[in-house]
Amino acid sequence: MTRHTYIALFLPLVAIGLGQLLTGAENPHLRYGKDEAQWMRWRMGQLCTEEGVYFTGSGNCVNCHAPDADGEALVDEHGATVSPVADWQATLMANSARDPFWQAKVDHEGLVNPTHRESIENLCTACHAPQGYHEAHLTGTAGPNGYTMEDLMEDDLGLDGIGCTACHSIDNENLAGRSNGDLPINEENVSWGGFENPWDGLMSGQTGFIPVYGEHMRNSEVCASCHSLYTHTQDLQGEETGQVFFEQTTYLEWVNSAFNAENVQCQSCHMPLVEGGAIAATQPNWLFPQRFGKHHLVGGNAFMLKLMRDNAVQLNLSATPVQFDSTIARTEASLQQQTANLQVRQLATSPGEWAFEVEVENLAGHKFPSGYPARLSFVEFVLTGAEDDTLFHSGSWSPANGIAGRDAGLEPHWDEITSPDQVQIYEMVLGDVEGATTQVLERAAILLKDNRLPPRGFSSQHPAYDTVQVGPMAALDADFNRRNGSEGSGADRLVYRVSTGDQSSMVHATARLHYQAVPKRWVDAMFGFSDQSERIAAFESMYEAADRTPVLVAEARSTGWPGFDPDAIDWKMAPNPISSGQLLRLVPAGVEMPRVIELFDLSGRLIRTVDLSDALLGHSVEDFAAGNYLVRLVFESRSQTIRWVKS
Ligand code: HEC
Ligand code: HEC
Ligand code: HEC
Ligand code: HEC
Ligand code: HEC
Repeated sequence: MTRHTYIALFLPLVAIGLGQLLTGAENPHLRYGKDEAQWMRWRMGQLCTEEGVYFTGSGNCVNCHAPDADGEALVDEHGATVSPVADWQATLMANSARDPFWQAKVDHEGLVNPTHRESIENLCTACHAPQGYHEAHLTGTAGPNGYTMEDLMEDDLGLDGIGCTACHSIDNENLAGRSNGDLPINEENVSWGGFENPWDGLMSGQTGFIPVYGEHMRNSEVCASCHSLYTHTQDLQGEETGQVFFEQTTYLEWVNSAFNAENVQCQSCHMPLVEGGAIAATQPNWLFPQRFGKHHLVGGNAFMLKLMRDNAVQLNLSATPVQFDSTIARTEASLQQQTANLQVRQLATSPGEWAFEVEVENLAGHKFPSGYPARLSFVEFVLTGAEDDTLFHSGSWSPANGIAGRDAGLEPHWDEITSPDQVQIYEMVLGDVEGATTQVLERAAILLKDNRLPPRGFSSQHPAYDTVQVGPMAALDADFNRRNGSEGSGADRLVYRVSTGDQSSMVHATARLHYQAVPKRWVDAMFGFSDQSERIAAFESMYEAADRTPVLVAEARSTGWPGFDPDAIDWKMAPNPISSGQLLRLVPAGVEMPRVIELFDLSGRLIRTVDLSDALLGHSVEDFAAGNYLVRLVFESRSQTIRWVKS
C-alpha cells in the first residue's frame, strides 16, 4: 500500500477520533490549558538541543511531541496529556545523569578503588548517561579508559540522561541476552516506535531521525540491557577475584515469572497504553490516533523524586514542580495500588497468647523490591487492646533511629516473630570477600540475604535461577513463595506469636507494609567520604534535609478473640459458670458470625436478644438470678444452643 492510499483510507477515522476527544470526561489534574501548555513548552526549551552523530537531545523532540496548546494531539479520551516529553521529563530515567545520589555513589566507588576509578565511571555512565557514553564510543572520542565523569560533566548529550533517542535508537539485535548497558545502537538515525506505518513527512527533516515501526519496542527485551547488571568482584585491596556478581536482575526476574508467559511486558505496567490511542504529534494537524504507550516509567522511588524536586535549581533540572508532583503521585499510586496485597488473620490461640498470620503477596512483574540493592520493604505489626493500649509493636520507624529492632549487622529473615526486636525486612544484603556486609557495589562477592518477594510464577527450576536466586535464609522457609507445597505463590506468610499475660478481651491487630528507596544505613558508609568529594557532600546535605518517612504500601487489620479456634465449629461461652460482676462473653469459632443471639431461660422463655459486638466484647447479666440459662446462636443455615450457669 502506498502512503497516500493509506492516509486516504484512514481519514474518516480522524473525525471519529476527534469526536471522542471532544466528548470525553474531564481530568483536571493532568489536563493542561493553553497557557500551561505554552509555559511547559517554554520550559522544555531548556532540555538538551545538542545534535550528535548517533543521538540528539530530547529538546529536539519538543516541537512536535510536547503538550498540544490546542488540546487535540497527545491527549487521551479525557483530554489529559499523554505527551511523552511531559511525562518523561520528571522521571528518574530522564534525570539519571543528574541524579545526585548516583553522582555521589560513582565518586564513592572511585574513592574506594582509586586505581581503576575511570573504568568504574565508564561502567556507571553506560546506563545512567547512555547517549554520551555511546556517542563517545561510537565516534571514537572516548579516552583510553572510556567515558568518565569528567567527560560527562562537559557533555549535554550525556547529561540528557536516558533521553528520547537513548531508547528509540535501540536496534533489535539479541536484546534478551544483553546486560550492563551494552545497547545495539542504530547507526542510521532510526527512531523505533510502537505503531505501524508512522508518517515521516516532517520528523526526519527537522531532527534527522526517522520514525519507524519496531515490534521490539513493545517488548521487555528493549529494557533488558540496562535492567540487568552484573559486576566483577573486587577484594578489599581492589584486586579482581575473577568472580561475577549479579547486582540488578529486574529483567531476569521478570523472565522467571508468570508475567512473561502471560505476555505482560514491562511496558504493560510501566508504559500503559492509552485506551483508543492518541495522535502522536502536534504537527501536521491531520494525523489520526495511533497505539500510544504513556511514558510514565515510574517504579517506587518517590523519595528521590521529591529530593530532586526540592533541589531542582541547584541540580539544574528542567522539569517543573508540577511535573515532579505528578510523577510522584504516579509513583505512590504504583506502590499503593499495584505492588502488594496484605492480609492478617487470627490463628488458633491458647490462653495468654495471641497468634496472627500475615501474608504479603507481591503483585509486581519482578521481585519486590527489585533493582538497586538499597531498596527495602518492611512489615510493621501492632497489637492493641480494647483501650487502644499497645500490647506489642514490631517494625516501628522513627527519623532518628530508622526501623526499630533491626540488628546492627544483618536482620535475619523471619518465619515466626515473637519479640519486638525482631522485624521482617524484605531486602538484598551484599557481602564482601570476607563475608562482612558491604554497600560498596564493586566489592559485592556473596549474597548474605535476599528475601525480596519473588514475582508470581517464580521457580527455582528456571534456567535463569542462578542469576536471581533466593538468599540463604528465605530459601529454607517453607511458605516463602510456596502455597500448599507448590512453588510460585509470589507471597510470604509469617506468624506473629505474642504472650500478653491474661488479656481477656478482644484485641486489634494491624499490619502495615512500608517501602524505603534510600535507607540511611545504606548511604552512611558513603557519607564517610564527604570530605573527599563535593558531590558526596552535596548529596549528604540534600539527604539530611529530606523527609525520609517510608512510603506506606498496604495496611490490613483484624480483630482477635481470646480462646479463638478457626477450625472449631462450636462457639463457646466464657466464663461458664459466670458469677456476679463478670461479663458474659461469646468465644467465636470458624469464620461465620451468627445473625441473631438470644438468651432464654430453661423453660424456653426469651429473655433478651444481644447484639453481636456486645456479646463478643462482654454483656452484663447482673440482673439475672442464679440458675441455668441457654444462649441460642442463629447462623445462615444452622443454629447452636449453649447452656450456661449463673452462680
Ligand atoms: C546495567 C545498567 C546500569 C549500570 C551499568 C549502573 N547502573 Fe546504577 N542503576 C541502574 C538502574 C536500572 C537503576 C534503578 C533501579 C531501581 O530504581 O531500583 C540504578 C540505580 C542506581 C542508584 C540509585 C539511584 C536513586 O535515585 O535511587 C545508584 C546510586 C546507582 N545506580 C549507582 C550506580 C553506580 C555507582 C554504577 C557504576 C558502578 C552504576 N549505578 C551502574 C542501572 C545501572
Ligand atoms: C516536526 C515534528 C516532529 C519532531 C520534531 C519529532 N517528531 Fe517524532 N513524530 C512526528 C510525526 C508526524 C510522527 C508520526 C505520527 C503518525 O504517523 O501518526 C512521529 C512519530 C514518532 C515516533 C513513533 C514511531 C512509531 O512507529 O511508533 C517516535 C518513536 C518518535 N516520533 C520519536 C521522536 C523523537 C525521539 C524525536 C526527537 C528526536 C521526535 N520524534 C521529534 C513528528 C515529529
Ligand atoms: C525508557 C525508554 C524510552 C524513553 C526514554 C522514551 N521512550 Fe518513547 N517509547 C518507548 C517505548 C518502549 C515505546 C513503545 C510503547 C508501545 O507502543 O508499547 C515508545 C513509544 C513512543 C512513541 C509512539 C507511541 C507508541 O506507543 O508507539 C513516541 C512518539 C515516543 N515514544 C516519543 C518519545 C519521546 C519524544 C521521548 C523523549 C521525551 C521518548 N519517547 C522517550 C520507550 C522510550
Ligand atoms: C505486573 C506489572 C509490572 C511488570 C510486568 C513490571 N513491573 Fe516494574 N514495577 C511494578 C511495580 C508495581 C513497581 C513498584 C514496586 C517495586 O518497587 O517493585 C515496579 C518497580 C520497578 C522498578 C523499581 C524497583 C524498586 O524496587 O526500586 C524498576 C527498575 C522496574 N519496575 C523495572 C521493570 C522492568 C525492567 C520490567 C520488565 C522486565 C518491569 N519492571 C515489569 C510493576 C511491574
Ligand atoms: C539506557 C538504559 C536504560 C534503558 C534502555 C531502560 N532503563 Fe529504566 N532505568 C535506567 C536507569 C539508569 C534507571 C535509574 C535512574 C536513577 O535512579 O538515577 C532506571 C530506572 C527505571 C525505573 C525506576 C523508577 C522508579 O521510580 O523507581 C523504572 C520503572 C524503569 N527504569 C523502567 C524501564 C522500562 C520499562 C524500560 C524499557 C521500556 C527501561 N526502564 C529501559 C536505565 C534504563
